[in-house]
Amino acid sequence: MAGQDEKQGKTKALRAGLLDWYDRNRRDLPWRRSRNPYAIWVAEIMLQQTRVAVVVERYQQFLGRFPTLVALALAPEQDVLAMWSGLGYYRRARMLHKAAQFVSENLQGNLPAKAEELRVLPGIGVYTAAAVASIAHNEPVAVVDGNVERVLCRFAGWGAGSRKGGGTVLRRKVEELARRFLDRTRPGDFNQAMMELGATVCTPRNPQCAACPLTAECKTRGEHKTARRAPMTSRVAGYGLVLRAAPRPSRRRGGSTEQVLLVQRPADATVMPGMWELPTLLQAEVPQSELRMELRHAIMQVNYYVRIRSVAEEDLEAMTATGGERRWVGLREAAGMALTGLTRKVLMRARLLASPAMDEIARQRGEAVV
Ligand code: ADE
Repeated sequence: MAGQDEKQGKTKALRAGLLDWYDRNRRDLPWRRSRNPYAIWVAEIMLQQTRVAVVVERYQQFLGRFPTLVALALAPEQDVLAMWSGLGYYRRARMLHKAAQFVSENLQGNLPAKAEELRVLPGIGVYTAAAVASIAHNEPVAVVDGNVERVLCRFAGWGAGSRKGGGTVLRRKVEELARRFLDRTRPGDFNQAMMELGATVCTPRNPQCAACPLTAECKTRGEHKTARRAPMTSRVAGYGLVLRAAPRPSRRRGGSTEQVLLVQRPADATVMPGMWELPTLLQAEVPQSELRMELRHAIMQVNYYVRIRSVAEEDLEAMTATGGERRWVGLREAAGMALTGLTRKVLMRARLLASPAMDEIARQRGEAVV
């Protein structure tokens, strides 16, 4: 009995220590200033697979354009994808949009409060439901994302997040531990504290054990195994930049003086269906003398080494792949279209699209802004 009391006392002290650490060290992130369930939902969807620094910038732009769930529901899908451009994993944006439409049409625009009810919506899984319900409504449900899983595995000495040998068994154990550890008085803050700890202190490589509020009871303190980075593969890709002067009427209406040729990806493409990109070169290897730009673009585990060359209109057929809807688009219009992240990057680097916000993101990523 005494052992049980002692264990509970330790757990209580750990919870208090973690929350105190969070109160003193939490990053001042825009979604943390809001209790609006819609805004929190948007942030949580963006934060899946996209780095915080990128999300910070894009989150505010997105909410500026779609300030409410109903505004999002009423927007055309292409506008939603355009605001998602550069965040990648566009299926998230499509599902967010679909879920907003469902809530708008069937639930009077009110996002359900309970995690269990949220899970029924398109694109909302166990993680998102728990994050929104706990942060916006203080429902005591534990969040387990990759960061939390790593923190708890190290804390309990369970093979440092290794999935080897029975991933689901380990996952169940982690979820059970997360439930027991959860602080039921401040579940939203507690969940965010766990994620924050994983993101800033108990990191995959070089964790800062001396700064960790859980260090006294941690089973792997200072002896973590360095997680291996998944190996990246490399591919070469080439795109053509095809420009022409805009026809006169479009200039008079305040359109830009140049148009760019864009191609729409097929609706049934497995990645980025329906999004717009530059025409693909038949020969990705571009001779040095013809090279307009060279850049690296990472998508998931693939590093694309991308070559861009200018293509004259009369060389289009000989040099670029056919297929997909092609459209000449004024540069102002292009900025608001559902461009692939790479296409937006190329047009910005070529100084054909202006976006101070995107330049800032590139700077934060340590990429040269030319
Ligand atoms: N990662 C995803 N959501 C988060 C949140 N709310 N706080 C910290 N890290 C997160």
